[in-house]
Amino acid sequence: MTANESKLDSIIDEYNAEPGSLISILQDIQAKYNYLPEESLEYVAQRLDISRVQVFGVATFFKAFSLKPKGKQQIHVCMGTACHVRGSKKVLEELERKLEIKAGDTTADGEYTLETVNCVGACALGPVVVENEEYHGEMTPIKVESLLNSK
Ligand code: FES
Repeated sequence: MTANESKLDSIIDEYNAEPGSLISILQDIQAKYNYLPEESLEYVAQRLDISRVQVFGVATFFKAFSLKPKGKQQIHVCMGTACHVRGSKKVLEELERKLEIKAGDTTADGEYTLETVNCVGACALGPVVVENEEYHGEMTPIKVESLLNSK
């Protein structure tokens, strides 16, 4: 999916093409496409009359923004200390093996994105894997199969 200028215009116009609204504009574009397509950043720079470097700088600075397409299922493996000591590395390795991608990547069919996070605040349940908004505690490599088949 690539950005379409009329959709971008409607977002940019909502903020009166104000350079001061750059972050809000990027948030809305990301909400629409699930990531920030590169051409959308070029277009925003042009419409707000600011440099590309500034727009790309903001887009890459905030962790909430992604310049790569994300999968429909977003899997976050907690690598915080409590989860790590309980074996989250093995869970991550099993997910990488099954999905045939590395952490930070998305499967070629656009189904899964695998990422690591530092402590999602449910340490007592560790190792924790969050699939979209859903928390899965006490994960083991064996449970990975049913996690992936549950959708
Ligand atoms: S370390 Fe994983 S939830 Fe806190």
